Amino acid sequence: MQHTDFTHTPDRNHTGSLKWQKYQDREVLPMWVADMDFLSAPEIIQDLRDRVDHGVFGYTVPYTEAQNAVLDYLKREHHTVAQADQLCWLPGLVQGLNLVCRAAGQEGDAVMVNTPVYPPFLSAPVFSNRKRITSELVEMEDGRYTFDREGMEAAVTPETQLFILCNPHNPVGRVFDRDELEWLLDFCEKHDLWICSDEIHCDLILDEQVTHTPILTLGERAAQRSIVFLSASKTYNLPGLACAYAVIPNPEIRAAFQKACRGIITEVNCFGYAGLIAAYTKGEPWRQEMLPVLRENLRLIEKTLSEKLPKVKMPKMEATYLAWMDFRAYSLENPVAYFEERGIGLSNGMDFGAPKGFLRFNFGCSTERVQQGLDLICDALA
Ligand SMILES: Cc1ncc(COP(=O)(O)O)c(C=O)c1O
Repeated sequence: MQHTDFTHTPDRNHTGSLKWQKYQDREVLPMWVADMDFLSAPEIIQDLRDRVDHGVFGYTVPYTEAQNAVLDYLKREHHTVAQADQLCWLPGLVQGLNLVCRAAGQEGDAVMVNTPVYPPFLSAPVFSNRKRITSELVEMEDGRYTFDREGMEAAVTPETQLFILCNPHNPVGRVFDRDELEWLLDFCEKHDLWICSDEIHCDLILDEQVTHTPILTLGERAAQRSIVFLSASKTYNLPGLACAYAVIPNPEIRAAFQKACRGIITEVNCFGYAGLIAAYTKGEPWRQEMLPVLRENLRLIEKTLSEKLPKVKMPKMEATYLAWMDFRAYSLENPVAYFEERGIGLSNGMDFGAPKGFLRFNFGCSTERVQQGLDLICDALA
């Protein structure tokens, strides 16, 4: 197979790209939503072509090849032996987040999340008529974030049924280690909470000293209360194919989740399965070529901040292609609009439950484009 040119940035205008359409009539470089600008892996493109050539696009149920691709992936990357009937297939994990809130307890119960966090973690409890309990992550001396253990103990209530974990964490880039996750599991056991572990970013580890700890590797007691969310869509940039899944080993939790899905979640589309199978069975060479580009981009961001923008703070990012930047030192009245007016579109940290002044910079694109984005920020703050 040919290699992907990660310096090439395809024109995505007029493709309905959520990322690009937002600014289609403005001179604004979109560096917001978590969607990368790279061409997909050639193996994935070829398998999708073959699926098109088949010519019949009927309702598609989880078929053996898709199930085996996931089960093999779980064994290989998550050291987890799962069964096909423990998988719940979904068009996306945003639906999953809303469904898991509806499955946990009753209306009026509570769901706990850390902030800042990917915005649907904050809206899903509310949309599901659950109370939302938040606990802020705290920054350690080395610039990485962790759980506020005392804060979480103080915040949890008897009506809390579910904790939703983001690991690796969007937006602070943390890969929680085994000790932290063991503590979290003890906490969830003590308060009898389900743990929904969203691990969608787990194959995007940038710090080579760090390894992802899948929640299911904590053993049977984790398996008994966990719902794990996964998808090939972040790593291989396939979110438009709408295919994700939950792994739910406990049959009672699985039944509650499936009940919440009834009448709402039907079949995943046929291209979603084809993309996932290709990604999990043939995508690794592409991922291994793509990760150094993201690492280079992160180095460029760190260097630029330290040399040119020392007042902009960023945590030590261990994973994801989303840089979490703190511009509070500049006291901008409307930080997103300020940067849009100066040519760059960033995600608003307030949507993630952070104070005004935090912005998220998506570096899932060519290094040249990251440089362009950084130049725009430097000029805007000059
Ligand atoms: C932590 C996390 N979960 C879920 C999603 C969205 O998943 P999906 O596209 O499958 O709805 C994202 C997208 O950025 C994410 O960062």
